[in-house]
Amino acid sequence: MREFEGKTAVITGGASGMGFAMAESFARVGMNIVLADVEVGALKEAAERIEALAVTAVPVQTDVADEADMDHLHDVVRQRFGAPDILCLNAGVAGGGGQTDLLTTKDWKWAIDVNLYGIIHGLRVFLGDMRESDAGHIVVTASVAGLTSFPGSLPYNATKHAAVSIAEGLFSELAEAGSGVAVHCLCPGVVSTNIHNSDRNRPKELQNTPADEQPRSEEFAGFMERLYEDVSKPHEVAELVFRAIVDGQFWIQTDGFYRDAIAARHRSIENDTDPPARGSIISVYSD
Ligand SMILES: NC(=O)c1ccc[n+]([C@@H]2O[C@H](COP(=O)([O-])OP(=O)(O)OC[C@H]3O[C@@H](n4cnc5c(N)ncnc54)[C@H](O)[C@@H]3O)[C@@H](O)[C@H]2O)c1
Repeated sequence: MREFEGKTAVITGGASGMGFAMAESFARVGMNIVLADVEVGALKEAAERIEALAVTAVPVQTDVADEADMDHLHDVVRQRFGAPDILCLNAGVAGGGGQTDLLTTKDWKWAIDVNLYGIIHGLRVFLGDMRESDAGHIVVTASVAGLTSFPGSLPYNATKHAAVSIAEGLFSELAEAGSGVAVHCLCPGVVSTNIHNSDRNRPKELQNTPADEQPRSEEFAGFMERLYEDVSKPHEVAELVFRAIVDGQFWIQTDGFYRDAIAARHRSIENDTDPPARGSIISVYSD
């Protein structure tokens, strides 16, 4: 896709982090922006900032895990703009992390509801329209956690492996059908966003009791704060996404830190050897 002006981008999780940065970059080339997010205050503020770029911004309060909310989002988009030209299935949460035997069903459910069902509902409501228009781009936000398997965040990993698989499977399905709809799989490493504070959007019914909560050390919080100074920034990721859309590139990786880990995993699969042992997703930065 090379012509953007007057076309429409729909971005879930568009009120913060990479979603907002993608919205900004699409707005800068004159696209209408539909921001779908569960966090009302941030959503309103994000829409105001996008409108200041002299394009139409439509905020739609949406819980991507909720079937009815996603149906409503679809109705709004269809009535105002028709099929999306760019659909970013991006909303996501860090999910419950920690030692696996101490995780609760609520930890697993929260991650799966947002990170996986968000994509499932997004495709359910928009893919048909996009296939009918035979054009457009679907950007699935997965993670390096979908290409390797880090310890200490199994619910998150599982949803991101599913996201990669959905993007790859959809790519093949559309290619086989000769469809004009393109698919991209965004696999960021650590990016300085608000994801470390995902709990702000954790639904009440999926919150753990204090007794079930796994402690997070002060040391870890301080490390994350320092780490954010050194890692990719959301606007850099948005630039990569934009280039991938222009160039028709499927994989979008944000840094080279994980390439060895991904290659080692693939070798272990090819050679029937044990998965390579490794530290957490942030351990590559502490070496
Ligand atoms: N930041 C990272 O290091 C990193 C790395 C790899 C992948 N990712 C992925 O990037 C995507 C964007 O996250 P981010 O890092 O920009 O974090 P972020 O917290 O800054 O943004 C996530 C957005 O999703 C929204 N959201 C959360 N739950 C929602 C729900 N149920 N329905 C609708 N919106 C909801 C939040 O309100 C927020 O606006 C996520 O899918 C995340 O898993 C992030």
